[in-house]
Amino acid sequence: MRKRIIDVCCGSKMFWFDKDNADVEFCDNRVVPLTEYYPKRFIEVSPDTVCDFTDLPFDDNSFYLAVFDPPHLQWAGDTSIMALKYGKLKGDWRAMLTAGFNECMRVLRPNGVLIFKWSEIQFPLSEILTLFSQKPLFGNRMIKRGNKTHWLAFMKAEVGEG
Ligand SMILES: C[S@@+](CC[C@H](N)C(=O)[O-])C[C@H]1O[C@@H](n2cnc3c(N)ncnc32)[C@H](O)[C@@H]1O
Repeated sequence: MRKRIIDVCCGSKMFWFDKDNADVEFCDNRVVPLTEYYPKRFIEVSPDTVCDFTDLPFDDNSFYLAVFDPPHLQWAGDTSIMALKYGKLKGDWRAMLTAGFNECMRVLRPNGVLIFKWSEIQFPLSEILTLFSQKPLFGNRMIKRGNKTHWLAFMKAEVGEG
């Protein structure tokens, strides 16, 4: 079956209801064997494809839906549980996020949808959105009572559309 959905940095697939969904190409740049990081708390990162979201090994116009939930923490201990679960922002990470967004748009079909997730724990969404070539269509702009996570939707333009 040709997969219709790509998650370009799936981590341990925490937000997926079906972690074995055969319609999803699960990608990440790391593999973490099943690890008990806290008594009875486990993590495993086991992508279908190990790759870098700045250089995805897929053809242009391949997927209907892309999911982009990159690391959002620059300051976290290298061996911390946060880094284990979410990865870390390293080096020129702003350029990395721009390249990741552009790759998501490249592998999406025209009119395909990108869902972007960002947690404003260390960097505000307003700063991150300046890194992308498009504005989101909609998303949860209001953040209430400690929930710092945004979910935003973008759509790839039709060919020839500005
Ligand atoms: C916030 S976590 C994703 C969490 C995931 N959505 C979940 O539900 O569990 C970010 C993931 O991005 C991965 N990552 C970081 N840089 C990457 C890159 N350049 N290419 C691919 N994956 C990357 C990390 O390994 C980490 O698993």
